[in-house]
Amino acid sequence: SSRKPIVAIDGPAGAGKSTVSRQVAQRLDLLYLDTGAMYRALTWLVLESGVAIDDEPSIAELASQCEIELDAQPTPIEKQSRAINVSVNGQDVTQAIRSLEVTSKVSAIAAQPIVRNELVRQQRRYGKNGGIVIDGRDIGTYVFPDAELKLFLTASVQERARRRQQDLKNQGKDIISLDELEQAIYDRDLKDSTRALAPLRQAEDAIEIQTDNLSIAEVVDRIVQLYQERAIINA
Ligand code: CDP
Ligand code: CDP
Repeated sequence: SSRKPIVAIDGPAGAGKSTVSRQVAQRLDLLYLDTGAMYRALTWLVLESGVAIDDEPSIAELASQCEIELDAQPTPIEKQSRAINVSVNGQDVTQAIRSLEVTSKVSAIAAQPIVRNELVRQQRRYGKNGGIVIDGRDIGTYVFPDAELKLFLTASVQERARRRQQDLKNQGKDIISLDELEQAIYDRDLKDSTRALAPLRQAEDAIEIQTDNLSIAEVVDRIVQLYQERAIINA
């Protein structure tokens, strides 16, 4: 085919997808698309607009009319502590989409079929020429089932809660207990993996990487190596 390779990285909340994906994109000189940031951006807009999260027709309208922009260029690794820039209808929401409120509501909105149809259409357009790392929940199963390389990152819920708590500490934010973080992660994974359309699940041809005892650099190295072994050959 004429398109360049696509690397699909899926997995549950806090498995390291976005951190790892950005570094892989940088190493391989690929673009990067954080699809979770798109669902978060729409969720922010719904909350900001005062629309109820079960008002599906109004949310569908917001989804089809809003312009979500993400910075897809590879970020130098030394600058990657900053979140990728995200804007909705011209407004910078880089920080706002990471709030607890958005995090607790996003799965309910992402489960709505009209929302997914609209955002998946945008994701496919974004990735149509390939040469991109895309992370999310349904990239290897649904958005780009023909991706050249598919990874499924996992870690125990305890480890993922611990990572989230460390993130909060590093950002100087209020600390949330490990119990609460585990519960929130568990709830979101359950919603994401039981929705009707394109639920979170490992593609049959995805390579699972269990990251509990791996550093970020080890995960990145493994994926870069897999890419060099396979993605190029299949292209
Ligand atoms: O980074 P974190 O694991 O907290 O989540 P995220 O990747 O930012 O995704 C936020 C939410 O968006 C997920 O919990 C899903 O509900 C939804 N999402 C989705 O439904 N499909 C995707 N491809 C990506 C995210
Ligand atoms: O995107 P996702 O929700 O899957 O995870 P993330 O936001 O990229 O990663 C959550 C946290 O785990 C980040 O602070 C990473 O630095 C950390 N992490 C880690 O400690 N060890 C790994 N092997 C991968 C990520």
